[in-house]
Amino acid sequence: MLLHHVEALEILLQGLCGVHRERLRIHEMCLKSGPNLGLVASEVRLLCDLEQPEPAWTVKHVGGAMRGAGAEQISVLVRTMVESKASKNVLRVFYALGYKLDHELLRVGFAFHFQRGAQITITVSSVNKMLKLHATDEAVPVTPGIQLVEVTAPASSENYTEVVAAMSSFCEYLAP
Ligand SMILES: *[C@@H]1O[C@H](CO)[C@@H](O)[C@H](O)[C@H]1NC(C)=O
Repeated sequence: MLLHHVEALEILLQGLCGVHRERLRIHEMCLKSGPNLGLVASEVRLLCDLEQPEPAWTVKHVGGAMRGAGAEQISVLVRTMVESKASKNVLRVFYALGYKLDHELLRVGFAFHFQRGAQITITVSSVNKMLKLHATDEAVPVTPGIQLVEVTAPASSENYTEVVAAMSSFCEYLAP
């Protein structure tokens, strides 16, 4: 989405969600393990929320998208996701386990969290890269003037049809 549309989207979302936006500033590090740790290489993301008074860390693993006949009939992607809070030495722990930094980025923007048939989160952010290792203060946009819009909601195998319906109907408001 182009920058000059962002303000209009923010006003639209504010009206639709009925909640205030939250500022978003997340340092994301993608780590990969060598094949020596298991049979296949694995990938984890360490997220550091820089908007909190004390940087708050999360470990996140995102699986592949659900496939098959069921997946083709719905308009959203269903992925497994495991997320857990971590202490600030988490990067050292993963390095000690043999993981290596693959790439890092900084997402800057805003988010809305609200309940409408599902716990929906919308983020509008720009993706920035660091010129020096971990130098989040000197990040530059990867695609200047373009913002990424993501709509997500948690679901389980029992309730995902309900969540898909809630997300699809909300996204119709955003269609234009
Ligand atoms: C669906 O299940 C997930 C996982 O238990 C839960 O986080 C989410 O709030 C549920 N959503 C609805 C609409 O019931």
